[in-house]
Amino acid sequence: MEIPRRSNNLATLEGCLMRRTRYRWLLVITMALTACGGQNVSPAAPTNSYPTLDPAQITQGRQVYVQRCASCHGPKAEGAPNWATPGPDGLFPAPPHDDTGHTWHHSDRVLYESIRDGMNDPLRPGSPLRMPAWGSTLSDGEIRAIISYFKSLWLAEHRQYQWEETLKDFKPTPTPPS
Ligand code: HEC
Repeated sequence: MEIPRRSNNLATLEGCLMRRTRYRWLLVITMALTACGGQNVSPAAPTNSYPTLDPAQITQGRQVYVQRCASCHGPKAEGAPNWATPGPDGLFPAPPHDDTGHTWHHSDRVLYESIRDGMNDPLRPGSPLRMPAWGSTLSDGEIRAIISYFKSLWLAEHRQYQWEETLKDFKPTPTPPS
């Protein structure tokens, strides 16, 4: 009874070793194929898909921004001092448009409409505009140029986020991607 069991065990061990060797070869072949294939396959598509900006539009946007917006939002779009603390009226001062603010959270359409139509206290409908409406002062192109200038201030990951918000926006955007 002892002997057959041992030989069975040996047979099992042998088979196991052989299978292992075969697996090792399979692994080597797979790795070789992957390595060879890798030379012919183009690198994975970049995760950031947002469009590039037009430098002339950024320059124009910065100029209009300095003239019209910097008095409230800061010369470098860094926001009013203490912008994150509400004033005595309970309202927040003008926020930044760089990475530290939340301008990059909004789609092109939302940004365009906020600049064109202005903004009031969202909790008090009909209250006076705190952010002036620029639709009758600035041209469509100037508003779009300012948005491009804002985009030039953002980190790649924020640009990507804002681009995805723009693509997700269910309403047609009045600012074609720049
Ligand atoms: C008189 C001061 C003032 C001027 C000038 C001004 N803003 Fe504002 N802006 C504000 C205030 C205050 C808010 C915040 C409104 C709120 O949250 O209720 C704001 C909000 C905004 C927002 C929304 C930001 C966000 O994250 O939701 C945008 C975009 C913006 N301004 C762009 C501009 C641009 C572009 C100009 C120049 C063409 C400009 N602003 C000029 C005061 C101003």
